[in-house]
Amino acid sequence: MSAKKITVVGAGHVGEVCAQRLAEKELAGEVVLIDIIEGIPQGKGLDQWQSAPVEGFDTRVVGTNDYGPAEGSDLFIVTAGIARKPGMSRDDLLRTNASIVSSVGEEIARVAPESIMIVVSNPLDVMAYVMKETTGFPRERVVGMAGILDTARFRAFIAMELDVSVEDIQAMVLGGHGDTMVPLISYTSVSGIPVSRLIPPGRLDAIVERTRNGGAEIVAYLKTGSAYYAPSAAAVQMAEAIVRNKRRILPAAACLEGEYGQEGIYLGVPCKLGAGGLHEVLELELNEDEAAALARSAEHVRSTIGRL
Ligand code: NAI
Ligand code: 2OP
Repeated sequence: MSAKKITVVGAGHVGEVCAQRLAEKELAGEVVLIDIIEGIPQGKGLDQWQSAPVEGFDTRVVGTNDYGPAEGSDLFIVTAGIARKPGMSRDDLLRTNASIVSSVGEEIARVAPESIMIVVSNPLDVMAYVMKETTGFPRERVVGMAGILDTARFRAFIAMELDVSVEDIQAMVLGGHGDTMVPLISYTSVSGIPVSRLIPPGRLDAIVERTRNGGAEIVAYLKTGSAYYAPSAAAVQMAEAIVRNKRRILPAAACLEGEYGQEGIYLGVPCKLGAGGLHEVLELELNEDEAAALARSAEHVRSTIGRL
């Protein structure tokens, strides 16, 4: 199972690697890469397509500056916007990216009104909200990527700590994509063994803190931008769950309709993703501290929306 056409908007770091991963996994017959900078999506698309004979994929990659070639796309991954530089928080990107994301949303609603959207642009939870407001699409068709990335960082750090395979670490990070994210220790295990039985509390706290700062750690190294290998892998995992109707339970940003006591905002929660997009938001039982941390995170997202 695969889609007919997937379009990636924004041919920068995250977008270009998304396009390449989508093509290598043959998740669509055609991948369209859009950017406002003339020549960049065309050059990157052609270069990626020329890797097809070597890598052995038949997905056609096409770059463009207009939305004509994206018409009728089944799925969009929206990475358009500016990225963080050292010293900037994701919220510093707010106004610039809100205006970019809403202009992208208008184009998508015009050329593919039945499509599904995975939003990546930051600040993530607010940009997903902006996208839903702009397009008027139902929540099933507008989801945001952040939880898989935050969870992957948490899993990677735990695997390093215990010197075990990343494949054996199951974890769940909820909340907004930012300093208020909520890594759930009580839902984190290593091949079914609760992580708290394997890592002492002090070390576990340090890993949680490093996860919270995972994005900033990469920005501090790169200096001119933010992470893109893990983010693109995470966005493409969501795309795969949707186009292959895998019905996977993955942490993602969804518009809440009463779940976790929240209404009308996007927040990272466990989501069932398959054909058509979001099938269901799963409500986990949280302890008092986790519930309070999630409520704080929701408040941060709500107040950021209020600043728009
Ligand atoms: P980048 O700067 O490398 O690429 C952004 C691209 O968007 C540029 O090529 C730019 O020309 C393009 N663009 C700007 N306005 C556009 C428009 N109206 N239409 C089409 N393209 C447009 O940035 P990068 O590293 O690819 O990050 C992209 C966004 O994703 C940033 O906002 C970043 O903060 C966010 N991000 C979010 C993550 C998450 O977990 N949700 C993880 C990583 C990045
Ligand atoms: C990250 O967490 C920049 O939000 C992006 O790496």
